[in-house]
Amino acid sequence: MSFHKELETTVRLLTASGKGILAADESTGTIAKRFAANSIENTEENRRAYRELLFTTPGMEHSISGVIFYEETLNQKATDGTLFSALLAKKGVVPGIKVDKGTVNLPGAPGELVTQGLDGLGEALKVHKGMGARFAKWRGVITIGDGIPSTYCIDSNAVMLARYAARCTEAGIVPIVEPEVLMDADNTLERCFEVTSQVLHATFRELHRHRVVLEHILLKPNMVISGKKCATQASIQQVAEQTIRCFRSHVPVAVPGIVFLSGGQSDEHATAHLDAIARLGPHPWTLSFSYGRALQAPAIKAWGGKAANWKAGQAAFAHRARLNGAAQAGKYTAAMEREVAKV
Ligand code: 13P
Repeated sequence: MSFHKELETTVRLLTASGKGILAADESTGTIAKRFAANSIENTEENRRAYRELLFTTPGMEHSISGVIFYEETLNQKATDGTLFSALLAKKGVVPGIKVDKGTVNLPGAPGELVTQGLDGLGEALKVHKGMGARFAKWRGVITIGDGIPSTYCIDSNAVMLARYAARCTEAGIVPIVEPEVLMDADNTLERCFEVTSQVLHATFRELHRHRVVLEHILLKPNMVISGKKCATQASIQQVAEQTIRCFRSHVPVAVPGIVFLSGGQSDEHATAHLDAIARLGPHPWTLSFSYGRALQAPAIKAWGGKAANWKAGQAAFAHRARLNGAAQAGKYTAAMEREVAKV
């Protein structure tokens, strides 16, 4: 059976103008860290309640086109008994699912990682689709350091991403292909440019070799940015210009959308960078966000695990979502940061 039309519809919905994707797919271990930073206990009920807060935020559908779930969340329900995936679909927000099983060390490559999760993926995708998921995510991780990344690591991750993407399109699920070059080191923007170029080149080579139709995928990359520990931080304009310069050389125009990860950037930087990138357009692909931390950090803080702060948490999330929606269209201004967050 061909899932051509279904894949096209999902891509169209996810790349809608003025909207982007909420990455709410933190594993139980990762959300533990985000909760601990705000003294919230990491119980299943707190995870469920927090996701309900995000998904039921009034008006979030005006800035959010899709939400990436962690598997646990795909099986969870709102207080009124509605499955989260159904609740979002009703608002026109597309539910998606993280399908990789995280990273392990890459044998023979000290300090480097490879992502696992291909075993049984075809069957898992059928089950996820039955629960409402229409797109998926797999994250490959590339570390910059002394003598790394190796070509071996870049190629291994590119092959895994391509095999995952092929499995997804076969199941009528749009794959988000996420090769993330980490921004935690002391490298310059130029080094990030060089590594991101190599990674994108290898990723598209493998997507071709694995016969993946590029019109049916979304790319989720890092921006070309200075490492967090680099003494000289590139300006917002430099990040925007070098990101686009890199992508123009390595991302075929058949790819319908590029949705950036935030990767540890501050909320305001992530928004300002996206806005500067949009203002350099028109671009051959739709460019938007698929942020985790940069969309959620203020909401977790405002909520703090307390029912009394529910509305404050929703207001904080709505505010960041609105600002990033504006940035997608190149209509964000720093003054908008000071607008009162409300729902
Ligand atoms: P961040 O925006 O916090 O990097 O998360 C996005 C994501 O999905 C990482 O895999």
